[in-house]
Amino acid sequence: MRRTAARVAGEIRVRDMREADVDAVVALESEAFSTPWSAETFRTLLERPGAELLVLDHAGDIVAYAVVWCILDQGELANIAVRTDRRGEGHGRHLLGAVLARATERGVHTLFLEVRESNRAARTLYADVGFEVIGRRKGYYQEPTEDALVLRIGLDGG
Ligand SMILES: CC(C)(COP(=O)(O)OP(=O)(O)OC[C@H]1O[C@@H](n2cnc3c(N)ncnc32)[C@H](O)[C@@H]1OP(=O)(O)O)[C@@H](O)C(=O)NCCC(=O)NCCS
Repeated sequence: MRRTAARVAGEIRVRDMREADVDAVVALESEAFSTPWSAETFRTLLERPGAELLVLDHAGDIVAYAVVWCILDQGELANIAVRTDRRGEGHGRHLLGAVLARATERGVHTLFLEVRESNRAARTLYADVGFEVIGRRKGYYQEPTEDALVLRIGLDGG
């Protein structure tokens, strides 16, 4: 049977990332992306007022994280990842819902993101929650080189 967040024992909550989470987040980032952000980058972002950094914490374990930039009524989902061994349990959907809620609270009306064209799991999730493809950036990604699709969702009627 497919596991879902609701079927996994222990408390699951989405909360703000803290300095103490950075090592776990960098480990997760490194297994998810071929050109990962460094611990220093995450520490700098934690100080930046326009950046929202969220983690999904399951009984004290960091299972997923997301980073969103908010500038006035526009936002960009810069990063979201679920630990490899915890994918397919509903955590990505749960965290993305929390991201959309946080961005809405921050007054964001339109949220953008870029995704690798070949990233079927992420594209399916984004399409499912209502993101639409609005453009393409040629050769945007490296290792391997690949186009990015640009996606957009309107929040709170924006
Ligand atoms: C994309 C990612 C965040 C999804 O997280 P997840 O916790 O595995 O996803 P969920 O279990 O919440 O699944 C939510 C939906 O995503 C889609 N999905 C998830 N995995 C999928 C897969 N392997 N193939 C196709 N669709 C998939 C499905 O629509 C799924 O809904 P369903 O459960 O009703 O079928 C995760 O795969 C990940 O961390 N990938 C690596 C990092 C990454 O690519 N981030 C996005 C950068 S733009």
